[in-house]
Amino acid sequence: MQTLLSLVVTVCCLFVVQRYFQIRKILQTIHYQPCDWTLFSRTGLGGRFSRIPFIFPGRDYQWRKYQDFSALGSDIFVAAALAPTVSLNFQLADPDAIKEVIGSRARFPKPLELYKPLLFFGDNIVASEHNEWKRYRKISAPAFTEPNNKLVWDETIRVINDLFDNVWGNQDEITVDHILEVFMPATLFILSAAAFGRHIAWNDEVLPPSGHQMTFKGALYIVSHDYLFKMILPNWAMVLTQRLKKLNVAFDELERYMVEMIRDRKNRTADDIEPRYDLLNGLLDACEDDLGGDSKLTERELMGNIFVFLLAGHETTAHTLCFAFALLALYPKEQEKLYEEIKTVLPDGRLPTYEDANSLVFTNAILNEALRMFPPVNGIPKFSAEDTVLPMTNSSGEKVFVPVPKGSNITLHTPGLHYNPKYWPDPHTFNPSRFLGDWPRDAFLPFSGGVRSCLGRRFAELESIVALTMFFSKYRVEIKEEPQFAGETFEQKKERVLDTMPRLTITPVRIPLVFKRR
Ligand code: HEM
Ligand SMILES: *[C@@H]1O[C@H](CO)[C@@H](O)[C@H](O)[C@H]1NC(C)=O
Ligand SMILES: *[C@@H]1O[C@H](CO)[C@@H](O)[C@H](O)[C@H]1NC(C)=O
Ligand SMILES: *[C@@H]1O[C@H](CO)[C@@H](O)[C@H](O)[C@H]1NC(C)=O
Repeated sequence: MQTLLSLVVTVCCLFVVQRYFQIRKILQTIHYQPCDWTLFSRTGLGGRFSRIPFIFPGRDYQWRKYQDFSALGSDIFVAAALAPTVSLNFQLADPDAIKEVIGSRARFPKPLELYKPLLFFGDNIVASEHNEWKRYRKISAPAFTEPNNKLVWDETIRVINDLFDNVWGNQDEITVDHILEVFMPATLFILSAAAFGRHIAWNDEVLPPSGHQMTFKGALYIVSHDYLFKMILPNWAMVLTQRLKKLNVAFDELERYMVEMIRDRKNRTADDIEPRYDLLNGLLDACEDDLGGDSKLTERELMGNIFVFLLAGHETTAHTLCFAFALLALYPKEQEKLYEEIKTVLPDGRLPTYEDANSLVFTNAILNEALRMFPPVNGIPKFSAEDTVLPMTNSSGEKVFVPVPKGSNITLHTPGLHYNPKYWPDPHTFNPSRFLGDWPRDAFLPFSGGVRSCLGRRFAELESIVALTMFFSKYRVEIKEEPQFAGETFEQKKERVLDTMPRLTITPVRIPLVFKRR
């Protein structure tokens, strides 16, 4: 017994001593950059639980915004963990450092192991690097040009008019318990039409079409919400609860819908007279034999890319719109400014045209401010492929260089950057006007940047601008009054309505709104 005990103690001591020297060496290499130590790392186990200082960094560590940078007094700090191995993750909220990283794909590639969950249906543009990524980008990018932008604009108008005419009708007041219930379907319908040429109406698809157990939007909704379970749990566990069973069915259904989408389009393209410029066509063309050689897409790559476009283009935009609407309902003065702009640019209540996009300056500013405060993708992972340094402005305002050893993980900390008071005065205040005139472009990263930046940026922006003008020209939007919240202060109300939960993207908890006809 005693020998066992002394053995355990010896092993523990050796472990501590070994770790101590290892850590001292690491700290020397990184020139004692401020560290946030926890036992478990953010990407591993530690990212699954609530925050316990020195043990778990917390599930929502990214959403503490600038707090950790401020506490450690540096716009770059290292999230350091002891288990399972000593690991370092450089957290970046400095615009110059971030510019350096996004400016060099070869020196700072994506850590593909973190993107494995996106590979379920096949390899794709988001979860790849190097030549494979180049090939996907080359195939997909032509779909996101001028003709498609116009299509996005027109389809957004069509989808919202369909909602106004056929769902909301002539009611003077419409109450929505959670605005997400409007924008999840709306963005799905727009994406479906503008990227995949598949029109869905608000009143369609109440029941699954024949041969299906779920509607397309139902299946996609469940998959995008719960899909991490499917990645984490083994297959046999997928029948343990109702929710998991449903998730399993949703995956099968989504696959079937994607196969149908491909088959329909192949069938239709044969009789098409007009050429099509949407995404699905570009992807399908790339599957044809005549391209030959390496550029040909396999069936699995086709599915992988369709899935990732559905995922990337849907929830991100829906959540952005939710937060923009919540902010405007909380700040009626800003809402009035928006209304004034709409009345000036679109007199007599006419619909916005694609040519109006750049004249709606304040509308654009609102969108940017919503994306600054609630960037849907709240951390972008990279790693360093070589021993290097990153430039940073230190707290005395001097330029310094932070050494980054080869193999270090790096996180572009979007909320940290977006709430960095050096670039955004009074960062917690909703102030769209900060985006009028000159603003610090390098301190704004909702769509990432460089060659790996979001391919759908213009798509999302145009869609959001149309939505903002159409809803706010017709309705005054307020937070729904509810008896259980009658006594709360403005600050409490703001906190409740803007509450978020960390999911695939930053997700609003519940935004109850009332739309009153103007
Ligand atoms: C407000 C809405 C959106 C936001 C905030 C957003 C944000 C982002 C971010 C941060 C990335 C980089 C991800 C990474 O490095 O892992 C990204 C990549 C991407 N996004 Fe978006 N996105 C939005 C809408 C869209 C839409 C509507 C589409 C398509 C219709 C789209 C398609 C893509 C694609 C294909 C990539 C991968 C690009 C590449 O790796 O080459 N996104 N997006
Ligand atoms: C980087 O992160 C991965 C997990 O994503 C981890 O396995 C690896 O040890 C980390 N590397 C360093 C140098 O911390
Ligand atoms: C292809 O389209 C034709 C009519 O345009 C239809 O009759 C046929 O069933 C379709 N085939 C498939 C496989 O969808
Ligand atoms: C900032 O950097 C300068 C130059 O290296 C250095 O003299 C100064 O002490 C640094 N300030 C802080 C707060 O670390």
